[in-house]
Amino acid sequence: MCGIVGYVGERNAAPILMKGLQKLEYRGYDSAGIAVHDGKKVNIYKAKGRLKVLEERHPSDKISGTLGIGHTRWATHGEPSELNSHPHVSGKIAVVHNGIIENYQRLKLWLEEKGYHFVSETDTEVAAHLVNHFYEGNLLQALQRAIALLEGSFALGVLSSDVPDTLVAVRKSSPLIVGIGQNENFIASDIPAILEHTRNVYLLDDGDMVVLKKNRIRMYNSLGERIEKPVFNVTWDADMAEKGGYAHFMVKEINETPKVLHDTLNPRIDKDGRFSLSEISKFSAMANTLKRLFIVGCGTAYNAAMLGKYYIEKMARIPVEVEYASEFRYRKPLIGKGDACIVISQSGETADTLAAMREAQRCGAMVVAITNVVGSSVSREADEVFYTWAGPEIAVASTKAYSAQLMALYIIGTELAFRVGGIDEDYYRELLTALTAIPKQAQTVLDNVARIQQLAAERFNAKNVFYIGRGMDCPLSMESALKLKEICYTHAEAFAAGELKHGPLALLENGSLVVALMTQESLLDKTISNMIECRTRNAYLVGIAMEGNIRAVETADDCILIPRTVECFAPMLAAIAAQLFAYYISTHKGVDVDKPRNLAKSVTVE
Ligand code: F6R
Repeated sequence: MCGIVGYVGERNAAPILMKGLQKLEYRGYDSAGIAVHDGKKVNIYKAKGRLKVLEERHPSDKISGTLGIGHTRWATHGEPSELNSHPHVSGKIAVVHNGIIENYQRLKLWLEEKGYHFVSETDTEVAAHLVNHFYEGNLLQALQRAIALLEGSFALGVLSSDVPDTLVAVRKSSPLIVGIGQNENFIASDIPAILEHTRNVYLLDDGDMVVLKKNRIRMYNSLGERIEKPVFNVTWDADMAEKGGYAHFMVKEINETPKVLHDTLNPRIDKDGRFSLSEISKFSAMANTLKRLFIVGCGTAYNAAMLGKYYIEKMARIPVEVEYASEFRYRKPLIGKGDACIVISQSGETADTLAAMREAQRCGAMVVAITNVVGSSVSREADEVFYTWAGPEIAVASTKAYSAQLMALYIIGTELAFRVGGIDEDYYRELLTALTAIPKQAQTVLDNVARIQQLAAERFNAKNVFYIGRGMDCPLSMESALKLKEICYTHAEAFAAGELKHGPLALLENGSLVVALMTQESLLDKTISNMIECRTRNAYLVGIAMEGNIRAVETADDCILIPRTVECFAPMLAAIAAQLFAYYISTHKGVDVDKPRNLAKSVTVE
């Protein structure tokens, strides 16, 4: 996720671009840049780090020119650096981009053969060179021809040094709006970037292109036909709009899950419809010789690791040890040559996780990072990196990043299992097909939110909540309880359902809330017996189960249903339901959802 903004008008563009980018910093903040046309040429200003570094280095009030584009970056291809930051330039052309160009490697080879020289590691640079390649004096035509070759998602803003009064832009699977001003017009990834200047916008659809001059806006569809659109009048306040109309970042991020799952999965499926683990080729080459696999992380990342253990051991029959990074680092773990260690960290900066990773490397193990932040410490120090493409996660409670971590583990686990002969070709295909359907099914969970809202409204006062589950539902119950603790301040515990009668059952009393995760249908009879034990102690039972699970519906007092998938992937869908349940309880309790007390997003101290 990145933020882009563009301006053409009569005022100085640079301060407007900078202010706009400030409002988009939530979309990424590892580097920033602007391109401003001063009437004769395009000047480029870039800096690594947050926007304020760019402003300090190149004060915007000292930059003249009334046409410009700007970008705040969340690195995907290429680490955060001045060279990789946007705008990217090719000949007369300057480009800002939000999205991922999936076929950039092929295009890069093609462009290199034509003599284009690449200076950055980004996918975006191919877009700059392509527009330049096709440019014969008509920017719109050049952009049209360029995007015909691009696969993936992109919102692009484009300038040319020989056109001092025009900005062109396109939207495909990445957001872009047009702001309508008086003798000035704007583009932006999100409405808050331009809200200070206008409340009238056009909402572009996929494939739409736009040509902006200070007093003219022309829009075209993907076929190049002129189109008109209704003016959308923005009535929300800026704060609300930054959250895309959602009340909190957390619920916005949960709602991004289908896209995040798609973005994490799709680039890992090759043209033959198989998983490609090219990013972690050394690790995957170890599949058949791997003695032991360790997975370490903290908090939510640890809970994802536990689910990964269940899956990998079941499918690949490789022994997996999961440890809290804070324990692993001091425990002199029995890890060494021939072993591998996967470290999971959304931020890539968690102190304990970094230390654990260094310990694993010191002992001679191969380290793979599953992380969300390109250029983070974990990504730089790991031997290989498998990115989760979840975009910036702002809310303290991790949601979409957890889902992406699960997807990453399922991809890696399935491919490992096939390579070691744990599963055959048919089952591999079945699993891959099931995973491909998950992003859409995640959307169905979100679409059925009303049931979860109602349940949260009825149960938010519960003093003690117990999450129970068997098999892969067991680690999911840990993550579900963690969500409730951190954003609802509700006492919540997770238990392997079979463990209840070995002690925890004593905690149950009249009105205790028990949430039974019931996606593992091969263990359903056992879980139901445990639920009945809870009912006998007057607990209120909520189930989360796959649709069609009639016995779950009959056993629980209330049941949240998720779409049907193969049993081992169902926790990925149930997790979304559990996150929403915690979110709505939190809002009923009036907790500061995005910034719960005593917690921080990135724990860079021990
Ligand atoms: C819980 C949560 C934390 C983090 C943990 C590790 O919602 O966000 O438990 O999962 O602090 O953080 P990362 O993944 O950044 O290493």
